[in-house]
Amino acid sequence: MSKTAQLILDGKTYELPVTIGTEDEHAIDIRNLRDLTGHITLDVGYKNTGATTSAITFLDGETGILRYRGYPIEQLAEKSSFLEVAHLLIYGELPTKATLDDFSSKITRHTLIHEDMKQFYMAFPRKAHPMGIMAAMISSLSTFYPESLETNRDPEAVNLTIYRLMAKISTIAAWSYKKSVGHPIVYPLNKLNYVENFLNMMFAMPTEEYKIDPVVVQALETLLILHADHEQNCSASTVRMVGSSQANLFSSIAAGVIALWGPLHGGANQEVIEMLEMIQKDGGNIQKWVDKAKDKNDPFRLMGFGHRVYKNFDPRARIIKKACDDVLLKLGVNDEILDLAKALEEVALKDEYFIERKLYPNVDFYSGIIYKAIGIPKEMFTVMFAIGRLPGWIAQWKEMIANKEPIGRPRQIYTGPGERNYSNIANR
Ligand code: CMC
Repeated sequence: MSKTAQLILDGKTYELPVTIGTEDEHAIDIRNLRDLTGHITLDVGYKNTGATTSAITFLDGETGILRYRGYPIEQLAEKSSFLEVAHLLIYGELPTKATLDDFSSKITRHTLIHEDMKQFYMAFPRKAHPMGIMAAMISSLSTFYPESLETNRDPEAVNLTIYRLMAKISTIAAWSYKKSVGHPIVYPLNKLNYVENFLNMMFAMPTEEYKIDPVVVQALETLLILHADHEQNCSASTVRMVGSSQANLFSSIAAGVIALWGPLHGGANQEVIEMLEMIQKDGGNIQKWVDKAKDKNDPFRLMGFGHRVYKNFDPRARIIKKACDDVLLKLGVNDEILDLAKALEEVALKDEYFIERKLYPNVDFYSGIIYKAIGIPKEMFTVMFAIGRLPGWIAQWKEMIANKEPIGRPRQIYTGPGERNYSNIANR
C-alpha cells in the first residue's frame, strides 16, 4: 500500500502522497497543496524541499555516500577517467571502449574556438577573474551557434552542443589563464587526451616545450571526477531553473558557472588557500582563527568546512586528502600550507562548536593544495571545479528537459506595505 501523510489545517484533514526513492528517501508530495488548501510551503534556502526526482546522483549526507548513476565515487575516482564519468552522467551508462573512443573523438573535434572569440579576450581587463571570462565566453557560444537556441528537444542537435561545450570549456579556461598572465594563447593539440590537452594549453610556451607529467594528469583526472556532479546543489539547480524557461544549453551552463563562483559554493576552493596563506602570514596561530570562526559577531568562517548535506564526512574530501599526500610526495613538493591545513582540521574537529554543528572539511578544503602543487594558480581553482562539474550540469539539464519539467517559479509570502496611494513628488 502506498504511504501518505496527513495534514490537518483549519480543522480539515488532507491526505498527501509520499514519494519514495530507490534508496528509501521519503518526500511528502505537495504538488497539489495550494489547490487543495490555499496554502503554500515556506522553506527559505530549500533546506527541506526536493525540487525534482532525479536518476543521476545519489548522496546520503548522514553516512557520507556519493554515487553517480549507482557507482560509488570511490570506485570511479580510482578506476575511471573523466570522459568515462562524463559519459556515465550525461547518457546514463559507462561507455564501452568503442563508445568512449567515439565520444572522445567527437569532443576532440570541437576543441577549437571560433577565431573571432579571440577578440573578446583582448577586451577583458588584464585582472579579470577567469570565472567572469568563462561565463561570458560560454554564454557567447550561443551567438556563434544560433541553431542551438531552438533545438532543445532535438537529441542530435543537443548532442552537438554537448560535444562543443565539453570540448571548448577547457580551451576557454586555459586561454583565460593565458590572458591573465599576458602570455600567448596555445591552440588545442588533438593528439593529446582531454586532460593532457588542457594542461598543454595552460602551460606550453612558444619558448619551451611543456612536458606532460603522468602524475599531474592522474591527479587532475581524479579531481575532475570528484567534482563531476553533486545532485541539486546551487549551480545545478540554477542550470535546471534557467533551462526550465527553455533557455538554450549554452546559456543555462553559463548561469551555472556564475552560481558556482560564489564563495559559499565552488568559489570556496580559492578562498581556502587564501585563508590558509593569511593564517600562515599571521603567524600560524590556528586557535585564534578557529575562535574567530566560532564568534557570531565576526564574519570570518572556516572556508572549506561545513556542507548543507554532508553531516558526517564528505567522501570527496577523504579521497582528496589522501590524493594530496600522494601527489605532493610523487612530485617532491613540500608545502607548509598542507601541514597547516591538517593542523587546522585537527583542531576544528576536536572543537565542540564544529562537533555540535557537524562541520567537516568539504571537497574544497584540500583540492586547492593539489591544484597549487600542479602549478594551477588560485584564481583558476573555481574554473577547474567548473570544468569538472560541466558533465553534471549537462546531465541535470538533459534530465529536466526529458522530464518535461515546468518552468521553475517559486512562490513567496509578501511582507511589504499594504496598498497605498501614489503621492506627487512635491508632496513627499
Ligand atoms: N565556519 C564556521 N561556522 C560555520 C561554518 C564554517 N565554515 N559553516 C557553517 N557554520 C555554522 C553556521 O554559522 C551555523 O551556526 P548556527 O547554527 O550557530 O547559526 C551552522 O554552522 C549551520 O550553518 P549554515 O550556514 O546554516 O548551513 P548551510 O547549510 O546554510 O551552509 C555552507 C552550508 C557550505 C554554505 C556553510 O557550511 C559554509 O559557509 N561553509 C564555508 C564555505 C564552503 O566551504 N563552501 C563549500 C561547500 S562544498 C563545495 C560545494 O559543493 O559547493
